[in-house]
Amino acid sequence: MLILGIETSCDETGVALYDTEQGLLGEALHSQVDLHALYGGVVPELASRDHIRRLVPLAREALSQAGRGLGDVDLIAFTQGPGLAGALLVGASVAAGLGLALGKPVTGIHHLEGHLLSPLLAEPRPEFPFIALLVSGGHTQLMRVDGVGRYRLLGETVDDAAGEAFDKTASLLGLGYPGGPALARLAEGGNSKRYELPRPKIHSGDLDFSFSGLKTAVLTKVRQHSPLDETARADLAASFQAAVVDVLVAKCLQALDAEGLQRLVVAGGVGANTSLRSQLASATAARGGQVFFPPARLCTDNGAMIAFAAALKAPMGSPHEPGFPVFPRWDL
Ligand code: KG4
Ligand code: ZN
Repeated sequence: MLILGIETSCDETGVALYDTEQGLLGEALHSQVDLHALYGGVVPELASRDHIRRLVPLAREALSQAGRGLGDVDLIAFTQGPGLAGALLVGASVAAGLGLALGKPVTGIHHLEGHLLSPLLAEPRPEFPFIALLVSGGHTQLMRVDGVGRYRLLGETVDDAAGEAFDKTASLLGLGYPGGPALARLAEGGNSKRYELPRPKIHSGDLDFSFSGLKTAVLTKVRQHSPLDETARADLAASFQAAVVDVLVAKCLQALDAEGLQRLVVAGGVGANTSLRSQLASATAARGGQVFFPPARLCTDNGAMIAFAAALKAPMGSPHEPGFPVFPRWDL
């Protein structure tokens, strides 16, 4: 079965083709970073318009990589939510239109389920059950995953998401949008021990997170030490990153302990962070466990994870409904 996956929930237009026998055959992605950089954040109306402009050429590109035509597609999957309503509607409309024109079924996929299952696209593939750490711009959650569609929320952020904290802190340090990757680059040359920052909720005993106080602590340091020279900015970036990573690592280990599991899977944009990757790798190895990451390009939003989630869910029956509703707010 050949599945066309469409992702348009935020500021990345992603299209991919996944074949249930041959795997990923084509991937095309356009990031709107340059479009929104001028405004310091995603402008929803501009995002929708750009998705409209990009979707068809990207679909052509993915099909040509795969050496297939639209007529070969058996199922069309699109991100149904959560995300920006207008942006979601573009993907949903294109998917519905293609489905009608081709006479093929269309299925809506939960964006977070796409992220959650994306580590299964890589080798070695984690076996169920596992603990999943979902760290994106909008979410920070720990889940127990017993199988496709069998997810139990263990804990989540009570305020900012980890990616949001990266983005907001980057902005405090005068880094442009999107801040996460830029802050991580700045942190590479910094001394993470120079500034003492809190590790919120690290000893709370539950599996919830809180990142807004950390961002405020950075703001206080910025004010105390202003103007910051280059070294101070890098040291503050490194100190912030170390605080976030410490909390994420500690909570992942707590979740593994609480559920008696040894496998950890990391998904979502912050999963591209190299410091988080290396610390999780050594912390899980030290207790005889294993950590699985999707390749960095599949950590951030993309069409492949949507097509792949649809492939895993297809045997369970596609929940196709008439029309193409989207759910800007939607719990998994
Ligand atoms: O999963 P994603 O592409 O979109 C959402 O669904 O939110 O995640 C985007 C988030 C942004 O907050 C971005 O700053 C963050 O992931 N991010 C990073 C890195 N790469 C992306 N944060 C820290 N280090 C990175 N290398
Ligand atoms: Zn995402």
